[in-house]
Amino acid sequence: MGALFESHVHLPLVHRGKVRDLYAVDGDRLLMVATDRLSAFDVVLPDPIPGKGQVLTALSRFWFARTQSIVRNHLADGAPEDVVRPDERDQVRDRSLLVRRVRPLPVEAIVRGYLSGSAWKEYRSTGTVSAMALAPGLLEASRLPEPLFTPSTKAPAGEHDEPLPAGAIEDLLGAERAAEVRRVSLRLYQEAAAYALGRGILIADTKFEFGVDADGALVLIDEILTPDSSRFWPQAGYRPGTSPESFDKQYVRDYLESIGWNKKAPAPALPADVVARTAAKYAEALAVLTR
Ligand SMILES: Nc1ncnc2c1ncn2[C@@H]1O[C@H](COP(=O)(O)OP(=O)(O)O)[C@@H](O)[C@H]1O
Ligand SMILES: [Mg+2]
Repeated sequence: MGALFESHVHLPLVHRGKVRDLYAVDGDRLLMVATDRLSAFDVVLPDPIPGKGQVLTALSRFWFARTQSIVRNHLADGAPEDVVRPDERDQVRDRSLLVRRVRPLPVEAIVRGYLSGSAWKEYRSTGTVSAMALAPGLLEASRLPEPLFTPSTKAPAGEHDEPLPAGAIEDLLGAERAAEVRRVSLRLYQEAAAYALGRGILIADTKFEFGVDADGALVLIDEILTPDSSRFWPQAGYRPGTSPESFDKQYVRDYLESIGWNKKAPAPALPADVVARTAAKYAEALAVLTR
């Protein structure tokens, strides 16, 4: 089976995201198919990256298993191959999760261990991250004195997530649930970052999504701790004051910058060697973290 750009199975399609296709299986389960689509600068590129969906799925499964003592997750009983027709099995094998459908919480639970991306931009101009004052003198990519929980909104398709101001997550979720989301997110980050460090990978930041099940319990949903939901930096060569290339999209971004693309859809086609190197990077992330 080659790369998969878009899945088509007989189940009712619930959502086609930038990367995942979601189908309703029955009253309480969803089939989440990770395609090989790659987005850069929030635009889906026309060329799929072979094996990417399998990497995202294998990594999520790996982390769900490692973190199940911290928080319940959405993995459901059953195999993805068994809920599609025989002729559809090649599309879902090794790249899909059967999950429990829960009520998603309207926040992205972001945890940052290092100063990067939008947090670095904010710190550089105001000395704060999500309005929390930090020590002066930090550099781009500096390790933060302690991991920070910086939740954002979950914007509808086509819009960008916005950082939540102080107190807003309590207004959205209630004080108790907000405290739980914060505590669980920080714990997940800390466990994963310590583990990844032992494999030579820094997790600069990451994003979790949660839902609430019929019992009212908090459930970890979506994908977790993949190159798409996190910034993974190789520890080798890490130096604060520079912007480390994230593990996965470095060749794609470099290429897109080199041809001067305006970062608006439609995105240009990728040369075969850029596709191949990117596929190799995703495979490497999985191998390094799970071997
Ligand atoms: N267990 C679940 N129950 C309900 N919704 C879920 C569950 N797990 C993931 N989702 C939702 O499925 C979607 C995953 O597809 P994705 O490609 O990430 O879409 P997007 O481009 O909207 O981020 C997200 O909107 C996520 O919130
Ligand atoms: Mg998503």
